[in-house]
Amino acid sequence: MATVVIRPEDLAVQKKFADDLTLSYREEAKRRGYEFTYNIRTYGCQLNESDSEKLSGILKSLSFVPGQTDDTDLVVYNTCSIRENARDRLFGNLGLVKAMKRKNPLLIVAVCGCMMKQNENVEKIKKSYPFVDLIFGPQDIHRLPELLFRIRFQQKKVYDVSQTDYIADDLDLPIDRSRKFRALVPIMYGCNNFCTYCIVPFTRGRERSRPFDQIMKEIAGLSSEGYKEILLLGQNVNSYGRDLEGMPDFADLLEACSKVSGIVRVRFMTSHPKDLSDRVIEIIADNPTIEKHLHLPLQSGSDRILTAMNRHYSREQYLRTARLFRSSVPQGTISTDIIVGFPGETQEDFEETLSLMREIRFDSAFTFQYSVRPGTPAAQMTDQIPQEVVTARFSRLLELQNSHCYESNMQVVGTLEEILIEGRSETAPYILSGRTGSNRLINFTLPDDIDLPDGSHLEKGDTFDGDKLEGCLAQVRITGARPYSLEGRWESWNS
Ligand code: 5AD
Ligand code: SF4
Repeated sequence: MATVVIRPEDLAVQKKFADDLTLSYREEAKRRGYEFTYNIRTYGCQLNESDSEKLSGILKSLSFVPGQTDDTDLVVYNTCSIRENARDRLFGNLGLVKAMKRKNPLLIVAVCGCMMKQNENVEKIKKSYPFVDLIFGPQDIHRLPELLFRIRFQQKKVYDVSQTDYIADDLDLPIDRSRKFRALVPIMYGCNNFCTYCIVPFTRGRERSRPFDQIMKEIAGLSSEGYKEILLLGQNVNSYGRDLEGMPDFADLLEACSKVSGIVRVRFMTSHPKDLSDRVIEIIADNPTIEKHLHLPLQSGSDRILTAMNRHYSREQYLRTARLFRSSVPQGTISTDIIVGFPGETQEDFEETLSLMREIRFDSAFTFQYSVRPGTPAAQMTDQIPQEVVTARFSRLLELQNSHCYESNMQVVGTLEEILIEGRSETAPYILSGRTGSNRLINFTLPDDIDLPDGSHLEKGDTFDGDKLEGCLAQVRITGARPYSLEGRWESWNS
């Protein structure tokens, strides 16, 4: 796939499509008496969430408004292909859309994202889900006006997945951010690593870094709009800048981000153990606004399996990096990704993963059963592990990790932590949810009689929605621990 920079002329062409479309949608909305609506369903990782924020921004600029799940003019499925279950979920949901389309034949059904970069998925949709109107790829988001224009004025169906790796100038795309306090900021796209189990390099293409100045300009803008937290995103943030002139590196970028006034939390993911430099760890330790947390996927604790996975680090190298982080950032947390049941994984290999986990005591972990991805080298490996073995290993791994999560959270009980409030908890509007500076999740309540940061007063019995405090900072005493969250008691406001 060729890498192509999107030129201002390309965006000007899209702008022309957008202007014509907006006019047409507005006129029709006036005629029929209600706005055009859309609904985006996002699967997978935060890069997909970030892409959906761009899709939503473009749709709003075309005069669409967000609509209800099953009564809308346009439904967009932004798909993920990292594991088989994400694929199954899409096809399950598409089955339901058929009934929606029968009820509303004018409904436009669009499917985009990583799965559309795999021909067999596009073919399956063509064959089994012919009511899908629009298919495009993760590199085509900026072309949405053109694609919708073609659907509206020229063709019944548009299946158009680019084979190009575009570098988008994101500053020119409208972004409809889903949170008021946190902004997702992709710093690079794609991946060059070709881990043998992983489909991402095939769907997201080669690594392309966004220019340093462009990222810093975006973050300065976010700060002036009132965002408090930025989350720098990339499949492998530690190789940021290698393809840019002057080769700025991730450590430079991270340090520059930590100096932007108004931004109180700088987060980033994902770090590849082979590329994480000691300097990044130093910068995390030295800069208070950088989150004291590292997401460092291990995948396996066995050197033999790491080699078969094409990970380019050994168990010992991983341990060295994790230990350096632990000693340099004493209050820091480490999370990881682990795959169980990679082809050829013996009981001894698996025990090595458990022993490494016991040594590092990960504060949290995303654990996965190996999922065959057609087209990847691991899919060709002959020694696939029987499902019952994978299931048994997986439950042992989970049990161990749960005990480590709990033990880790117990360590902070009694301490006072600065919490960035994310809004109401999932369980009740008056329970607040937020994160510590080391990415621990906490739920806490406010005292009965309290002045809020905006000057208003809350008394016992008042109705209150925690989302009102999204983005505020509070000092909270940690009073209890569970494996996946903390409990606490508010002590004071910080902002
Ligand atoms: N099977 C299981 N897990 C996978 N991951 C990536 N590909 C696969 C696969 N084929 C996991 C890795 C990665 C995370 C995002 O998803 O652990 O770090
Ligand atoms: Fe996939 Fe490996 Fe790239 Fe991560 S680093 S996206 S696991 S190929």
